Amino acid sequence: MKNFLITGGAGFIGSNFVHYLLEKYPDYRVVVYDKLTYAGNLNNLRDVSDDPRYAFVRGDICDRELVERVIQEYQIDTIVNFAAETHVDRSIMDPDAFIRTDVYGTYVLLEAARKFGLERYHQISTDEVYGHVPHGHSSLETDPVAPRSPYAASKASADLMVHAYWVTYNLPVTISRGSNNIGPYQYPEKVVPLFVTNALEGKPLPVYGDGRQMRDYQWVGDHCEGIDVILHKGELGEIYNIGTGTEIENLTMVEILLDELGAPRSLIQHVEDRPGHDRRYSLNVDKLKALGWESRHDCEAAIRATVRWYVENEWWWRPIKEGEFKEYYEKMYGNRKVLDMSETSASRES
Ligand code: NAD
Ligand code: TYD
Repeated sequence: MKNFLITGGAGFIGSNFVHYLLEKYPDYRVVVYDKLTYAGNLNNLRDVSDDPRYAFVRGDICDRELVERVIQEYQIDTIVNFAAETHVDRSIMDPDAFIRTDVYGTYVLLEAARKFGLERYHQISTDEVYGHVPHGHSSLETDPVAPRSPYAASKASADLMVHAYWVTYNLPVTISRGSNNIGPYQYPEKVVPLFVTNALEGKPLPVYGDGRQMRDYQWVGDHCEGIDVILHKGELGEIYNIGTGTEIENLTMVEILLDELGAPRSLIQHVEDRPGHDRRYSLNVDKLKALGWESRHDCEAAIRATVRWYVENEWWWRPIKEGEFKEYYEKMYGNRKVLDMSETSASRES
């Protein structure tokens, strides 16, 4: 395991993982293979662009011919697949690209891994495949998948295909299911960077519905360490959850974020909820802990560190918010009904 193909490596988590690998393993080589959709950004890889162990190829994971050529040319022995369409709200507006990339693209990579007898195929999956998790339970890797958004359904489909390649062809696969990641280089459509940058711009923070939905917000670096542990110590054919193991309400996340910024709560604006919004995700992460991994940041520490990064790195997010993003924001939030939640807020404070 030395020559990595990091698909989707110009996105948020993929680029963090590339930094992580190159820093930790002096003898590893990394080829980032990325289509550079709206979410892919070479600024995320600026710090490693001169590293002789790093190469970039612009390409689609659905392009079988190019995938095969790159694997041969760079003598790839390991694929870590981050490439995906990743935003639930966009999947609700238009699921098409999700099916193509997340499902068909995964199949193309699996076929290539099989054809060239790769040492490992690792699939980056998500806690969203478990669907809404009732209070009193935390998802175990053995729980059935029950996805409820087109995004989650596309990721669950990919997981099932990866598993099928293990069972049928004995392809050496592993799967990780991460909770919500936050940290450097996250496209500001996702809630934490959206809210931090909106607050910095003096704009409202559009909280969906009552804001009492629960998520496990983890520091992206902790997720990267978890993937590393699975690659080196994980059992083939197995699934591993990665998260802090504790979830918080979105309103609590917003309060921490505003507190770190020193910004007023009056920026909170409750808006019409997302259709089919999963109320709660919660992961049991004991299986990965048993391999010696431990999350280093709880949700609050992760949120505060993320806020500080966006405050200090306006050069990164400002141009994004000026571009394609503006059109998206108008489409997603322009006509969204604003809710009057005064009664709920009062009861929460009492
Ligand atoms: P992202 O949207 O920031 O980046 C996705 C990257 O994939 C982009 O660089 C994009 O250009 C690339 N890409 C998209 N379609 C492609 C294609 N057809 N071929 C090649 N490249 C393509 O996503 P992220 O948040 O970094 O997520 C990475 C992975 O982690 C995804 O598989 C996602 O499902 C999973 N995940 C994300 C989170 C999270 O909180 N962000 C949590 C758990 C799991
Ligand atoms: P998001 O970052 O889209 O991740 P996911 O839906 O994959 O968990 O959203 C995280 C939580 O924040 C989720 O409960 C939806 C909520 N949310 C808002 O309240 N307002 C927003 O504008 C966005 C984008 C998300």
